[in-house]
Amino acid sequence: MSKYDYLIVGSGLFGSIFAHEMSKNGKNCLVIERRSHIGGNVFTEKVENINVHKYGAHIFHTNDKKIWDYIQQFADFNRYTNSPIAIYKDELYNLPFNMNTFHQMWSIKTPEEAKKIIESQKKEIDTETPDNLEEQAIRLVGKDIYEKLVKGYTEKQWGKKCNELPSFIIKRLPVRFTYDNNYFNDLYQGIPIGGYTKIIKKLLKGIEVKIDTNFFEDRKKWENIADKVVYTGMIDQYYEYCFGELEYRSLKFESETKNMENYQGNAVINYTESEIPYTRIIEHKHFEDTASSKTIITKEYPIEWKKGYDAYYPINDEKNMKILEKYQKLGKKEKSTIFGGRLALYKYYDMWEVIKESLDAVKLELDNLKK
Ligand code: FDA
Repeated sequence: MSKYDYLIVGSGLFGSIFAHEMSKNGKNCLVIERRSHIGGNVFTEKVENINVHKYGAHIFHTNDKKIWDYIQQFADFNRYTNSPIAIYKDELYNLPFNMNTFHQMWSIKTPEEAKKIIESQKKEIDTETPDNLEEQAIRLVGKDIYEKLVKGYTEKQWGKKCNELPSFIIKRLPVRFTYDNNYFNDLYQGIPIGGYTKIIKKLLKGIEVKIDTNFFEDRKKWENIADKVVYTGMIDQYYEYCFGELEYRSLKFESETKNMENYQGNAVINYTESEIPYTRIIEHKHFEDTASSKTIITKEYPIEWKKGYDAYYPINDEKNMKILEKYQKLGKKEKSTIFGGRLALYKYYDMWEVIKESLDAVKLELDNLKK
Protein backbone atom coordinates (compact mmCIF):
# COMPACT_ATOMS: atom_id res chain seq x y z
CA MET A 1 0.00 0.00 0.00
CA SER A 2 1.27 3.49 -0.85
CA LYS A 3 1.63 6.27 1.67
CA TYR A 4 -0.99 8.45 -0.06
CA ASP A 5 -4.14 7.74 -2.00
CA TYR A 6 -3.43 10.61 -4.42
CA LEU A 7 -0.36 12.54 -5.44
CA ILE A 8 -1.56 15.78 -7.01
CA VAL A 9 0.95 17.42 -9.32
CA GLY A 10 0.15 21.14 -9.44
CA SER A 11 -1.65 23.39 -6.97
CA GLY A 12 -3.70 25.40 -9.50
CA LEU A 13 -7.48 25.44 -9.38
CA PHE A 14 -7.80 21.94 -10.83
CA GLY A 15 -5.36 20.29 -8.43
CA SER A 16 -6.50 22.22 -5.35
CA ILE A 17 -10.18 21.43 -5.87
CA PHE A 18 -9.43 17.78 -6.54
CA ALA A 19 -7.33 17.56 -3.37
CA HIS A 20 -9.97 19.38 -1.32
CA GLU A 21 -12.88 17.22 -2.43
CA MET A 22 -10.98 13.95 -2.10
CA SER A 23 -9.77 14.86 1.39
CA LYS A 24 -13.37 15.62 2.34
CA ASN A 25 -14.11 12.07 1.24
CA GLY A 26 -11.48 10.65 3.56
CA LYS A 27 -8.67 10.26 1.04
CA ASN A 28 -5.08 11.03 1.91
CA CYS A 29 -3.65 13.55 -0.59
CA LEU A 30 -0.23 15.06 -1.17
CA VAL A 31 0.09 18.11 -3.43
CA ILE A 32 3.42 18.98 -5.06
CA GLU A 33 4.02 22.29 -6.80
CA ARG A 34 7.06 23.27 -8.82
CA ARG A 35 6.64 27.01 -8.24
CA SER A 36 7.45 28.71 -4.93
CA HIS A 37 3.79 29.34 -4.20
CA ILE A 38 0.41 27.65 -4.44
CA GLY A 39 -2.45 28.62 -6.76
CA GLY A 40 -1.05 28.21 -10.27
CA ASN A 41 -1.99 31.08 -12.54
CA VAL A 42 -4.69 32.47 -10.27
CA PHE A 43 -2.07 33.30 -7.61
CA THR A 44 -2.44 36.79 -6.11
CA GLU A 45 0.04 38.43 -3.78
CA LYS A 46 -0.54 41.38 -1.45
CA VAL A 47 1.85 44.30 -2.11
CA GLU A 48 1.21 47.83 -0.75
CA ASN A 49 -2.15 46.50 0.51
CA ILE A 50 -3.11 45.70 -3.11
CA ASN A 51 -3.84 42.17 -4.34
CA VAL A 52 -1.60 41.80 -7.38
CA HIS A 53 -2.70 39.28 -10.04
CA LYS A 54 0.77 37.86 -10.68
CA TYR A 55 -0.15 35.99 -13.87
CA GLY A 56 -2.44 38.50 -15.56
CA ALA A 57 -5.91 39.87 -14.91
CA HIS A 58 -8.23 37.25 -13.46
CA ILE A 59 -11.93 38.11 -13.46
CA PHE A 60 -14.27 35.38 -12.36
CA HIS A 61 -17.35 35.01 -14.55
CA THR A 62 -19.81 32.22 -15.21
CA ASN A 63 -23.37 31.42 -16.16
CA ASP A 64 -23.31 28.24 -14.11
CA LYS A 65 -25.09 28.84 -10.82
CA LYS A 66 -23.70 25.63 -9.29
CA ILE A 67 -20.11 26.73 -9.91
CA TRP A 68 -20.86 30.26 -8.67
CA ASP A 69 -22.34 28.86 -5.44
CA TYR A 70 -19.47 26.41 -5.08
CA ILE A 71 -16.68 28.99 -5.31
CA GLN A 72 -18.42 31.35 -2.91
CA GLN A 73 -17.93 28.86 -0.08
CA PHE A 74 -14.30 29.94 -0.14
CA ALA A 75 -14.54 33.74 -0.53
CA ASP A 76 -16.95 36.63 -0.76
CA PHE A 77 -16.96 38.19 -4.21
CA ASN A 78 -17.35 41.87 -5.02
CA ARG A 79 -19.56 43.16 -7.84
CA TYR A 80 -16.71 43.95 -10.23
CA THR A 81 -17.85 44.39 -13.82
CA ASN A 82 -15.23 43.99 -16.50
CA SER A 83 -15.40 47.03 -18.78
CA PRO A 84 -12.01 47.39 -20.45
CA ILE A 85 -10.86 50.41 -22.44
CA ALA A 86 -8.89 50.30 -25.68
CA ILE A 87 -6.34 52.93 -26.60
CA TYR A 88 -5.37 53.27 -30.25
CA LYS A 89 -2.80 56.05 -30.81
CA ASP A 90 -4.46 59.08 -29.15
CA GLU A 91 -7.99 57.68 -29.41
CA LEU A 92 -9.85 55.98 -26.60
CA TYR A 93 -12.64 53.41 -27.04
CA ASN A 94 -14.94 51.39 -24.82
CA LEU A 95 -14.94 47.61 -25.14
CA PRO A 96 -16.59 45.27 -25.98
CA PHE A 97 -17.70 46.75 -29.31
CA ASN A 98 -20.93 48.53 -28.42
CA MET A 99 -22.79 51.78 -29.05
CA ASN A 100 -20.22 53.72 -27.00
CA THR A 101 -17.43 52.37 -29.24
CA PHE A 102 -19.39 53.21 -32.40
CA HIS A 103 -20.11 56.72 -31.18
CA GLN A 104 -16.41 57.22 -30.38
CA MET A 105 -15.41 55.78 -33.79
CA TRP A 106 -17.93 57.44 -36.11
CA SER A 107 -19.71 60.12 -33.98
CA ILE A 108 -23.03 58.38 -34.63
CA LYS A 109 -25.74 57.98 -31.99
CA THR A 110 -28.27 55.35 -33.06
CA PRO A 111 -28.04 51.58 -33.57
CA GLU A 112 -29.43 52.01 -37.08
CA GLU A 113 -26.58 54.34 -38.07
CA ALA A 114 -23.99 51.96 -36.58
CA LYS A 115 -25.46 48.91 -38.32
CA LYS A 116 -25.44 50.72 -41.65
CA ILE A 117 -21.72 51.55 -41.42
CA ILE A 118 -20.73 48.08 -40.24
CA GLU A 119 -22.83 46.36 -42.94
CA SER A 120 -21.34 48.50 -45.71
CA GLN A 121 -17.77 47.81 -44.47
CA LYS A 122 -18.41 44.08 -44.08
CA LYS A 123 -19.33 43.91 -47.77
CA GLU A 124 -15.69 44.58 -48.65
CA ILE A 125 -15.12 40.90 -47.88
CA ASP A 126 -17.69 39.12 -49.97
CA THR A 127 -16.76 35.54 -49.16
CA GLU A 128 -18.49 33.16 -46.76
CA THR A 129 -15.24 31.22 -46.41
CA PRO A 130 -12.54 33.65 -45.30
CA ASP A 131 -8.97 32.54 -46.00
CA ASN A 132 -7.40 34.14 -42.94
CA LEU A 133 -8.08 36.02 -39.72
CA GLU A 134 -8.00 39.43 -41.41
CA GLU A 135 -10.79 38.48 -43.81
CA GLN A 136 -12.76 36.83 -41.03
CA ALA A 137 -12.53 39.89 -38.77
CA ILE A 138 -13.55 42.34 -41.50
CA ARG A 139 -16.45 40.01 -42.39
CA LEU A 140 -17.60 40.18 -38.76
CA VAL A 141 -17.05 43.82 -37.74
CA GLY A 142 -16.03 45.85 -40.78
CA LYS A 143 -12.78 47.57 -41.67
CA ASP A 144 -12.55 50.46 -39.14
CA ILE A 145 -12.97 48.33 -36.03
CA TYR A 146 -10.68 45.71 -37.48
CA GLU A 147 -7.88 48.18 -38.29
CA LYS A 148 -8.00 50.17 -35.05
CA LEU A 149 -9.07 47.65 -32.43
CA VAL A 150 -8.37 44.11 -33.69
CA LYS A 151 -5.37 44.10 -36.04
CA GLY A 152 -2.46 45.38 -33.92
CA TYR A 153 -3.66 43.69 -30.73
CA THR A 154 -4.11 40.30 -32.42
CA GLU A 155 -0.77 40.51 -34.24
CA LYS A 156 1.02 41.22 -30.95
CA GLN A 157 -0.92 38.45 -29.20
CA TRP A 158 0.02 35.76 -31.74
CA GLY A 159 3.31 37.15 -33.12
CA LYS A 160 2.04 36.85 -36.70
CA LYS A 161 0.32 39.05 -39.27
CA CYS A 162 -3.47 38.74 -39.29
CA ASN A 163 -3.43 37.71 -42.95
CA GLU A 164 -1.13 34.82 -42.01
CA LEU A 165 -3.24 33.64 -39.09
CA PRO A 166 -6.01 31.06 -39.57
CA SER A 167 -9.57 32.41 -39.53
CA PHE A 168 -10.74 29.90 -36.88
CA ILE A 169 -9.00 31.91 -34.11
CA ILE A 170 -11.83 34.45 -34.35
CA LYS A 171 -15.10 32.57 -34.57
CA ARG A 172 -17.12 35.45 -33.21
CA LEU A 173 -16.46 39.09 -32.42
CA PRO A 174 -19.38 40.17 -30.31
CA VAL A 175 -21.00 43.41 -31.45
CA ARG A 176 -23.61 44.98 -29.21
CA PHE A 177 -26.05 47.63 -30.34
CA THR A 178 -26.72 48.98 -26.84
CA TYR A 179 -24.73 51.37 -24.66
CA ASP A 180 -23.40 48.54 -22.47
CA ASN A 181 -19.70 48.29 -21.56
CA ASN A 182 -20.01 45.05 -19.59
CA TYR A 183 -17.51 42.75 -21.33
CA PHE A 184 -19.05 39.46 -20.26
CA ASN A 185 -22.56 38.26 -20.98
CA ASP A 186 -22.49 35.94 -17.97
CA LEU A 187 -25.00 36.23 -15.15
CA TYR A 188 -22.34 36.11 -12.43
CA GLN A 189 -19.00 37.91 -12.23
CA GLY A 190 -16.73 39.36 -9.58
CA ILE A 191 -13.36 39.32 -7.88
CA PRO A 192 -12.82 37.41 -4.63
CA ILE A 193 -12.36 39.95 -1.87
CA GLY A 194 -8.87 39.40 -0.48
CA GLY A 195 -7.58 37.74 -3.66
CA TYR A 196 -7.54 34.27 -5.20
CA THR A 197 -4.75 32.90 -3.02
CA LYS A 198 -7.16 33.07 -0.11
CA ILE A 199 -9.44 30.62 -1.95
CA ILE A 200 -6.57 28.23 -2.68
CA LYS A 201 -5.39 28.37 0.95
CA LYS A 202 -8.87 27.41 2.13
CA LEU A 203 -9.08 24.61 -0.42
CA LEU A 204 -5.74 23.18 0.71
CA LYS A 205 -6.25 23.66 4.47
CA GLY A 206 -5.15 20.52 6.30
CA ILE A 207 -3.66 18.96 3.16
CA GLU A 208 0.05 18.27 2.86
CA VAL A 209 1.63 20.57 0.24
CA LYS A 210 5.24 20.73 -0.95
CA ILE A 211 6.19 23.82 -2.97
CA ASP A 212 9.42 24.14 -5.03
CA THR A 213 8.95 20.49 -5.89
CA ASN A 214 9.06 19.36 -9.51
CA PHE A 215 7.50 15.99 -10.30
CA PHE A 216 10.15 15.31 -12.95
CA GLU A 217 13.10 15.83 -10.65
CA ASP A 218 12.34 12.53 -8.91
CA ARG A 219 9.59 11.01 -10.99
CA LYS A 220 10.00 7.42 -9.75
CA LYS A 221 9.74 8.48 -6.12
CA TRP A 222 6.62 10.54 -6.72
CA GLU A 223 4.93 7.86 -8.81
CA ASN A 224 5.43 5.32 -6.04
CA ILE A 225 4.33 7.54 -3.20
CA ALA A 226 0.62 7.33 -3.99
CA ASP A 227 -1.88 4.88 -5.47
CA LYS A 228 -2.85 7.39 -8.11
CA VAL A 229 -1.35 10.51 -9.69
CA VAL A 230 -3.45 13.52 -10.63
CA TYR A 231 -1.31 15.34 -13.17
CA THR A 232 -1.99 18.97 -14.10
CA GLY A 233 1.31 19.78 -15.83
CA MET A 234 2.09 19.69 -19.57
CA ILE A 235 0.99 16.47 -21.23
CA ASP A 236 3.90 16.36 -23.71
CA GLN A 237 6.38 16.65 -20.83
CA TYR A 238 4.64 13.76 -19.02
CA TYR A 239 5.43 11.58 -22.06
CA GLU A 240 8.95 13.00 -22.39
CA TYR A 241 8.01 14.77 -25.65
CA CYS A 242 8.01 11.41 -27.46
CA PHE A 243 5.72 12.74 -30.22
CA GLY A 244 7.22 16.24 -30.22
CA GLU A 245 6.56 19.48 -28.37
CA LEU A 246 3.19 21.18 -28.21
CA GLU A 247 3.44 24.91 -28.93
CA TYR A 248 2.22 27.80 -26.79
CA ARG A 249 2.27 31.58 -26.67
CA SER A 250 3.98 32.89 -23.59
CA LEU A 251 3.75 36.19 -21.69
CA LYS A 252 6.14 38.49 -19.92
CA PHE A 253 4.78 40.58 -17.04
CA GLU A 254 6.50 43.82 -16.05
CA SER A 255 5.19 45.35 -12.82
CA GLU A 256 5.98 48.69 -11.21
CA THR A 257 4.81 50.52 -8.12
CA LYS A 258 3.73 54.09 -8.88
CA ASN A 259 3.83 56.75 -6.24
CA MET A 260 0.31 57.95 -6.97
CA GLU A 261 -3.21 56.91 -6.04
CA ASN A 262 -4.64 56.28 -9.46
CA TYR A 263 -2.63 55.70 -12.64
CA GLN A 264 -5.12 54.92 -15.38
CA GLY A 265 -8.59 54.95 -13.79
CA ASN A 266 -9.49 51.42 -14.89
CA ALA A 267 -8.28 47.90 -14.10
CA VAL A 268 -7.66 46.92 -17.72
CA ILE A 269 -6.58 49.11 -20.65
CA ASN A 270 -5.74 47.43 -23.96
CA TYR A 271 -3.18 49.01 -26.27
CA THR A 272 -4.30 48.04 -29.74
CA GLU A 273 -1.68 49.65 -31.99
CA SER A 274 1.18 47.46 -33.17
CA GLU A 275 3.91 50.04 -32.33
CA ILE A 276 3.42 49.53 -28.56
CA PRO A 277 4.90 46.14 -27.65
CA TYR A 278 2.56 45.28 -24.77
CA THR A 279 -1.09 44.36 -25.20
CA ARG A 280 -2.44 45.76 -21.98
CA ILE A 281 -1.76 47.52 -18.71
CA ILE A 282 -3.43 46.19 -15.59
CA GLU A 283 -3.89 48.46 -12.58
CA HIS A 284 -4.54 45.95 -9.84
CA LYS A 285 -6.13 48.16 -7.18
CA HIS A 286 -9.21 48.74 -9.35
CA PHE A 287 -10.19 45.07 -9.21
CA GLU A 288 -11.07 45.47 -5.55
CA ASP A 289 -11.28 49.24 -5.15
CA THR A 290 -8.39 49.14 -2.65
CA ALA A 291 -7.40 52.06 -0.47
CA SER A 292 -3.69 52.73 -0.90
CA SER A 293 -1.65 55.87 -1.49
CA LYS A 294 0.34 53.93 -4.11
CA THR A 295 -0.68 51.88 -7.11
CA ILE A 296 0.77 48.87 -8.92
CA ILE A 297 0.57 48.44 -12.65
CA THR A 298 1.60 45.51 -14.84
CA LYS A 299 2.38 45.60 -18.54
CA GLU A 300 1.64 42.37 -20.36
CA TYR A 301 3.92 41.48 -23.29
CA PRO A 302 3.11 38.44 -25.45
CA ILE A 303 6.30 36.56 -26.30
CA GLU A 304 7.38 33.49 -28.17
CA TRP A 305 7.28 30.37 -26.06
CA LYS A 306 10.40 28.23 -25.64
CA LYS A 307 10.93 25.11 -23.54
CA GLY A 308 11.35 26.20 -19.93
CA TYR A 309 9.17 29.32 -20.32
CA ASP A 310 5.73 29.52 -18.70
CA ALA A 311 3.16 28.22 -21.16
CA TYR A 312 0.03 30.38 -21.34
CA TYR A 313 -2.01 30.05 -24.52
CA PRO A 314 -2.08 26.73 -26.39
CA ILE A 315 -1.80 27.08 -30.17
CA ASN A 316 -4.61 24.74 -31.15
CA ASP A 317 -3.78 24.56 -34.86
CA GLU A 318 -3.86 21.42 -36.97
CA LYS A 319 -0.21 20.53 -36.41
CA ASN A 320 -0.45 20.73 -32.60
CA MET A 321 -3.85 19.02 -32.44
CA LYS A 322 -2.41 16.03 -34.33
CA ILE A 323 0.41 15.74 -31.81
CA LEU A 324 -2.06 16.16 -28.95
CA GLU A 325 -4.23 13.32 -30.28
CA LYS A 326 -1.25 10.96 -30.01
CA TYR A 327 -0.60 11.95 -26.39
CA GLN A 328 -4.29 11.64 -25.59
CA LYS A 329 -4.30 8.08 -26.95
CA LEU A 330 -1.54 7.17 -24.52
CA GLY A 331 -3.37 9.02 -21.75
CA LYS A 332 -6.50 6.94 -22.21
CA LYS A 333 -4.55 3.77 -21.46
CA GLU A 334 -3.29 5.02 -18.09
CA LYS A 335 -4.81 3.18 -15.15
CA SER A 336 -3.36 5.17 -12.30
CA THR A 337 -2.95 8.68 -13.72
CA ILE A 338 -5.72 11.24 -14.06
CA PHE A 339 -5.00 14.20 -16.35
CA GLY A 340 -6.69 17.51 -15.64
CA GLY A 341 -6.47 21.26 -16.07
CA ARG A 342 -5.36 23.51 -18.88
CA LEU A 343 -1.82 22.14 -19.39
CA ALA A 344 -2.60 18.44 -19.29
CA LEU A 345 -5.60 18.89 -21.60
CA TYR A 346 -3.82 21.53 -23.78
CA LYS A 347 -6.87 23.75 -23.80
CA TYR A 348 -7.62 27.33 -22.81
CA TYR A 349 -10.07 27.15 -19.91
CA ASP A 350 -11.73 29.92 -17.98
CA MET A 351 -11.65 29.44 -14.23
CA TRP A 352 -15.25 28.26 -13.94
CA GLU A 353 -14.57 25.58 -16.57
CA VAL A 354 -11.53 24.27 -14.69
CA ILE A 355 -13.56 24.13 -11.48
CA LYS A 356 -16.29 22.21 -13.29
CA GLU A 357 -13.76 19.81 -14.88
CA SER A 358 -12.19 19.15 -11.50
CA LEU A 359 -15.53 18.53 -9.76
CA ASP A 360 -16.53 16.20 -12.63
CA ALA A 361 -13.23 14.32 -12.27
CA VAL A 362 -13.85 13.93 -8.53
CA LYS A 363 -17.35 12.59 -9.14
CA LEU A 364 -16.09 10.11 -11.73
CA GLU A 365 -13.37 8.95 -9.37
CA LEU A 366 -15.76 8.51 -6.43
CA ASP A 367 -18.23 6.62 -8.65
CA ASN A 368 -15.44 4.32 -9.83
CA LEU A 369 -14.36 3.66 -6.25
CA LYS A 370 -17.88 2.53 -5.38
CA LYS A 371 -17.91 -0.09 -8.17
P1 FDA B 1 -2.55 26.17 -13.57
O1 FDA B 1 -1.53 26.44 -14.61
O2 FDA B 1 -3.09 27.31 -12.82
O3 FDA B 1 -1.98 25.12 -12.51
C1 FDA B 1 -1.10 24.09 -12.86
C2 FDA B 1 -0.02 24.03 -11.80
O4 FDA B 1 0.78 22.87 -12.00
C3 FDA B 1 0.91 25.23 -11.82
O5 FDA B 1 0.95 25.82 -10.54
C4 FDA B 1 2.25 24.64 -12.20
O6 FDA B 1 3.35 25.32 -11.60
C5 FDA B 1 2.12 23.21 -11.68
N1 FDA B 1 3.00 22.26 -12.35
C6 FDA B 1 3.17 22.08 -13.68
N2 FDA B 1 4.08 21.14 -13.92
C7 FDA B 1 4.52 20.71 -12.72
C8 FDA B 1 5.48 19.74 -12.32
N3 FDA B 1 6.21 19.06 -13.21
N4 FDA B 1 5.68 19.54 -10.98
C9 FDA B 1 4.97 20.24 -10.06
N5 FDA B 1 4.06 21.17 -10.40
C10 FDA B 1 3.83 21.40 -11.71
N6 FDA B 1 -9.86 32.73 -16.51
C11 FDA B 1 -11.01 33.38 -16.16
O7 FDA B 1 -12.03 32.74 -15.86
N7 FDA B 1 -11.03 34.75 -16.10
C12 FDA B 1 -9.94 35.51 -16.42
O8 FDA B 1 -10.00 36.73 -16.36
C13 FDA B 1 -8.73 34.84 -16.79
N8 FDA B 1 -7.62 35.54 -17.09
C14 FDA B 1 -6.50 34.90 -17.55
C15 FDA B 1 -5.39 35.65 -17.92
C16 FDA B 1 -4.26 35.01 -18.42
C17 FDA B 1 -3.08 35.84 -18.84
C18 FDA B 1 -4.25 33.60 -18.57
C19 FDA B 1 -3.07 32.90 -19.16
C20 FDA B 1 -5.34 32.84 -18.14
C21 FDA B 1 -6.48 33.48 -17.64
N9 FDA B 1 -7.58 32.75 -17.19
C22 FDA B 1 -8.73 33.42 -16.83
C23 FDA B 1 -7.56 31.27 -17.15
C24 FDA B 1 -7.13 30.72 -15.76
O9 FDA B 1 -5.83 31.18 -15.47
C25 FDA B 1 -7.17 29.19 -15.79
O10 FDA B 1 -8.48 28.75 -16.04
C26 FDA B 1 -6.69 28.48 -14.50
O11 FDA B 1 -5.62 29.12 -13.89
C27 FDA B 1 -6.29 27.06 -14.83
O12 FDA B 1 -5.99 26.31 -13.66
P2 FDA B 1 -5.19 24.93 -13.80
O13 FDA B 1 -5.19 24.30 -12.47
O14 FDA B 1 -5.73 24.16 -14.95
O15 FDA B 1 -3.73 25.36 -14.28
